[in-house]
Amino acid sequence: MTAAVAGADVRDVVVVGAGGMGRAWMDVVRSREDLRPSAVVDIDLSAARAAAAERDWSVPVFDDVAAALQEVRADLLLNVTIPEAHRGVSETAIRAGVPVLSEKPVTPTVADAMWLSALSVTRGVLLATSQSRRHSAGITAFRDALRDLGGLGQLQTQFFQNPRFGGFRDEMASPLLVDMAIHQFDQARYLLGSEPESVYCEEFSPAWSWYRGAAAAQAIFRFSGGARFGYAGSWCADGLTTSWNGDWRASAPGGSATWDGENAVRMQREGGGVQDIPVGAVREGLDAALTEFLAALDGGAPPSGEIRQNIRSLAMVEAAGESAATGTRVELDSVFARAGVSALADAQAAGETEIADQLRTWAGGPPR
Ligand SMILES: NC(=O)c1ccc[n+]([C@@H]2O[C@H](COP(=O)([O-])OP(=O)(O)OC[C@H]3O[C@@H](n4cnc5c(N)ncnc54)[C@H](O)[C@@H]3O)[C@@H](O)[C@H]2O)c1
Repeated sequence: MTAAVAGADVRDVVVVGAGGMGRAWMDVVRSREDLRPSAVVDIDLSAARAAAAERDWSVPVFDDVAAALQEVRADLLLNVTIPEAHRGVSETAIRAGVPVLSEKPVTPTVADAMWLSALSVTRGVLLATSQSRRHSAGITAFRDALRDLGGLGQLQTQFFQNPRFGGFRDEMASPLLVDMAIHQFDQARYLLGSEPESVYCEEFSPAWSWYRGAAAAQAIFRFSGGARFGYAGSWCADGLTTSWNGDWRASAPGGSATWDGENAVRMQREGGGVQDIPVGAVREGLDAALTEFLAALDGGAPPSGEIRQNIRSLAMVEAAGESAATGTRVELDSVFARAGVSALADAQAAGETEIADQLRTWAGGPPR
């Protein structure tokens, strides 16, 4: 194993998780000249083998990330395993000195994310989440339009889709909130340019749902500065589906703007006509998240998904789940306070004094 090399021309990547999304990441790696695969890891070796073979990659395959990092060169690791495996895989890589770009959610809980975040800071090894849906030409144009209108006070999205996934999502207690809504919650943070403070949420299971858990939710978030973000979503909505980014509307001092989640951005000022806003070309999705991450390894700015930033999107999910379970409005500060206590107890029990010391400095959550 070799730690990251600043400014290296071509970096060696270990991809962990060879499921649907792991394969999508492998295609991004294959499309880039600044990356080359050095191993594919999956607890299901046949999946790792098949994914490598489909791409004509003659790289070793492993069923264990620690073994892979001992055997091959790794300048970075892509963690594309299921959410429950995220903490273990990322921890192994960070302890080996290998920077990690993880799929969302960075961990299933805020407590785990705080713990990993403290590990990343104390080891000086970058850990970031890829929130691919904050990188698109459409959302960039929408955000620019909102700034043009003087910053917004009210933001709303509707997300209605009907996937038949099979697999882990069908068994989760909160598939929509935990596995999908984090995208729209993170997009709201990006669009508002401020941080969430509280949420009231109801989560439920429509009678016709094909999921075991709750596949629909409605939530209202209050953001710092007083802005409100409303979310209405369902993963069991047949017919008239929205885009996978959701369908957005915002109200600002200078007027209103909408985004269909794809390339249609419109705005209108009081007394003016409806304007179609041109959508430019930008790097999008996984490729954009990877570009930010590599720039940080080269000494540039931290990526927007650096764990201490991204943890606030995860906290929105956890707070929404708590609100749905208790029927009350939940403050994000209380989520961080409780998660901090739990992460600290975890670090103390494991005798991790450096991590414990770091966590003590984050009483109200990681720094903004
Ligand atoms: N950004 C997006 O738009 C987007 C879309 C889909 C999925 N995702 C995320 O990507 C991740 C993977 O989702 P998926 O749809 O590919 O799931 P999947 O079930 O298709 O694949 C996950 C793979 O991880 C492997 N795995 C599990 N534990 C492991 C471990 N400890 N070590 C190595 N491999 C392990 C499994 O065997 C499986 O092959 C999830 O976190 C999911 O939320 C993101």
